[in-house]
Amino acid sequence: MSDPVLWELVCVRCAARYPGLEVRTLCGCGGTLDVVHALERLKGVVTAQTFDDRLGARQGVYRSGVWRFRELILPLDDASIVTKPEGNTNLYEAPRVASYVGLDALWLKHEGENPTGSFKDRGMTCGISMARRLGMERVAVASTGNTSASAASYAAQAGMEAIVFVPEGKIAYGKLSQALAYGARTLQIDGDFDAAMALVQQICAAEGIYLLNSINPFRIEGQKAIGFEVLQDMGWQVPDWIVLPGGNLGNNAALSKGMGELLELGIIDRLPRIAVVQAAGANPLYRAWVSGEPMSPVKAETLATAIKIGDPVSFDKSMRGLRACGGVVCEVSDQAIMDAKAQVDASGIGAEPASCATVAGIRQLVQAGVIPAEARVCGVLTGHLLKDPDTVVSYHRGSLDGIASTWANAPISVGSGIESALLGMRRG
Ligand code: F0G
Repeated sequence: MSDPVLWELVCVRCAARYPGLEVRTLCGCGGTLDVVHALERLKGVVTAQTFDDRLGARQGVYRSGVWRFRELILPLDDASIVTKPEGNTNLYEAPRVASYVGLDALWLKHEGENPTGSFKDRGMTCGISMARRLGMERVAVASTGNTSASAASYAAQAGMEAIVFVPEGKIAYGKLSQALAYGARTLQIDGDFDAAMALVQQICAAEGIYLLNSINPFRIEGQKAIGFEVLQDMGWQVPDWIVLPGGNLGNNAALSKGMGELLELGIIDRLPRIAVVQAAGANPLYRAWVSGEPMSPVKAETLATAIKIGDPVSFDKSMRGLRACGGVVCEVSDQAIMDAKAQVDASGIGAEPASCATVAGIRQLVQAGVIPAEARVCGVLTGHLLKDPDTVVSYHRGSLDGIASTWANAPISVGSGIESALLGMRRG
C-alpha cells in the first residue's frame, strides 16, 4: 500500500502543473519543475518538535538526516525509501577558519561526511527512492564526479543499473574510483560536464532511463535537508548567512526552497541570507547577477573540478531563491580557493577544493563589508578532503600549475636512519 500522492510538479517558468508521479524532468516549455507540497495541511501539525522528536532514532527511516524531515521532503511510504542513512553531518565551530575570514565566529556544516563523501547523498536518497516508487530499473547521471559516486552507490543498494557520464580525464580520482567500484557503467565523454549533461538528457529520453541529475526535481527535495539540519543543529535559531559553492546550482536552489517552506509553516520567522560562491573561471550565475542580463553559458575552467560548469540547469530556481532572501553571488579565483582550502584543511576539518570556495567567498564578502564580522555565518563544505588527493599532494609539493602554495606542508624524504630522520624533524 502506497501513501497518497500529496505533491505535484509545477513549472518554474510557466506554472504548468503535472501529476506528482509523472516521469518527467522538464516542463513542455523547457522550464525546470518544482515539487509543490500541500503545505496547508501541515501547518501547526508539523513543527520543529516533530523533527526533534525523531533525533536519535535507532531504527527505520528517521535515522536519516533527510527522511527525518519526511513531510517536507517527500511523503513516500517506507517501502519505497532507499536510505543508508545519510545526513547527520557535523556542524563544526571553526575558530581558526573564522579568524582567517575575519569573522568573530564561523560554523562549517561538513557535507563531506555523508556516506559517499559529498552532499549529493541527500538528494540521491530522494531521487533513487522516487525511481523505486516509479518502478524504474535504470538510472543515469552526468557528473563532475560526486553525483556519479552517489548515484552509483545508491543504485547498487537499490538493485538498479547506474550509467554515469563523466568528462574524460577531468574528474578527481577519488570520485572516479567510487563510480567504478560501486559498479556503475562509466562512460567517459570527450567533452566537458555541460556536454555530458546535454547527452545524458537525450539518452534518458530516448531509452526510458530515469535521470538523476539535480534537474530532477526530487533530487532538489532531498538536498533541502542540508538547510533543515543546519537549523536543527543550531536549535532552530536562523543564522544570518548560509554560504555555499555554486556549480549546476541545484544545491542553493534547494536551500532557498526549503527555507521558504519552513517560513511558510512558521517553523522559522525569517529567512537566512544565502551567498553563492562561484569559481571565477566557471561563473555564469555571477555574470548574470552582476549584469542583470539573462544567463549566457561560459566555457568553464577551474581547478575546483566539481564546480567546473558553464551552463547550469538550475539557474532560474537559483535566481528566484537568491532574490527571495536578499542573497548575493560572488566569484573567487583558484588561488583564493586553494588558500582557503589550506586553512580549512590545516584546521583539522578538511574538504575538497570546490567546498573551500565557500570559505574563500566568505572572506571576500567580509572584506567587502557585505557580511559584518559579528554576523552568524554557516558555511557549507560540500565534499570530503579525500575526494581529490592529487590536488592536495600537488599543492603541498608546490607543483600545482599556476598556484602559489602559500601554506605548503611538503613531505620530507629522510631515508631510513635516525640521524637523517632527526634532521628532517628539525629542518625549518
Ligand atoms: N561542491 C561539490 C563538492 C560538488 O560536487 C558540486 C557539484 C558542487 C559543490 C556544486 O553544487 O551543482 O548543486 O551547484 N557537483 C556535481 C556533480 C555537478 O556532478 O557531482 P551544485
